[in-house]
Amino acid sequence: MLTMKRCRIVSVGIVLLFVALVSLAGAKEKVILDADMVLLYDDGVAMMMLANHPDIELLGVTIVPGNTWLSEGTAYAVRQLEVLNRKDIPVASGIRYPLRAGRYETMEVERKMFGFSSSYTGCFGRTEPASFLDVYRTEFGGRPTIKPVDKHAVNFLIDTIKANPGEVTVMPIGPCTNLAIAIRIAPEIIPLIKRVVYMGGAFDTPGNTTPSAEFNWWFDPEAAKMCVRTPFADQLIVGLDVCEKYRFNKKIFDRITAVNKPIAKMFKEKYGPEFKKNPNYTRLVWDTIAAAVVIDPALITEEETRWVDVNSDYGLDYGRSLGYSKRGPAGTQKARILFTIDEKRFWDLMVDLLTK
Ligand code: BDR
Ligand code: CA
Repeated sequence: MLTMKRCRIVSVGIVLLFVALVSLAGAKEKVILDADMVLLYDDGVAMMMLANHPDIELLGVTIVPGNTWLSEGTAYAVRQLEVLNRKDIPVASGIRYPLRAGRYETMEVERKMFGFSSSYTGCFGRTEPASFLDVYRTEFGGRPTIKPVDKHAVNFLIDTIKANPGEVTVMPIGPCTNLAIAIRIAPEIIPLIKRVVYMGGAFDTPGNTTPSAEFNWWFDPEAAKMCVRTPFADQLIVGLDVCEKYRFNKKIFDRITAVNKPIAKMFKEKYGPEFKKNPNYTRLVWDTIAAAVVIDPALITEEETRWVDVNSDYGLDYGRSLGYSKRGPAGTQKARILFTIDEKRFWDLMVDLLTK
């Protein structure tokens, strides 16, 4: 009798294990993309890659200023999701300015004091448009068919992470402002986040905005510092150390535009004239590398774990990424810094996802 009962328990156990394994195998990787959205490269392509991959569940796109103002980023996210016909992916607009007060207003003084290595200051170089509808109308004509959700990006992050404990990969591929505020308002989400994958920082390589700082972490150093010092279960940093090794070129452009699809049309409109002018034109694709390694972690060929920090002293090194291999200063956490990827596999993945 006892043996029969034990047998039944064992068989129920086996069935449950089987069900769990099957559902694990079919489980999609849940992602929230937090982006300073542009059309196509690079935030736009990163979003399209994630949205088009069958193993990724893009739970939402939260918008942060950086490359673009919130109004612009929201319009670009909406437009590209319309092209993909993915009205089901929520877009939530976030924090309007970086944490340091008066940054935008004093940019010219900063430029003189710290010496910029690039004239590109993202949205700081333009006046902020009145609304996302204005941007949409001006750039694409008419009215969007997707409405951003009626929830602040910070609340969207908090609620979505709480609804999917231990399952969400958060990807700040712009300045870290939204995530920084989310973890300050609701620190209980910190242990619920599966991993954070940043595009940001430059450790063993010079900055691209000032001699010392990479754009995303330069734009809001305080926010980046708050995030990388948080004890997340896993932090992967896709910074300039890896991103500056790979460039989009005419060969990749030709592969993406070889099909008759709406994405190909967008690529032709945006990059066709560049390649016509100069067939040797190339460009970096930063955020798309972050998207690619979330989709296919086997792309990673070299990474190093260090304690990391971001300098937030308002001086020449404002926004510089700091990595300590032996032991970090008090309060720092470990992160994996990406150095190389399998290049062929990366471009193949991108081409495949953009030509679907
Ligand atoms: C990063 O800054 C932004 O301009 C790009 O989208 C990328 O996230 C590169 O430094
Ligand atoms: Ca970006």
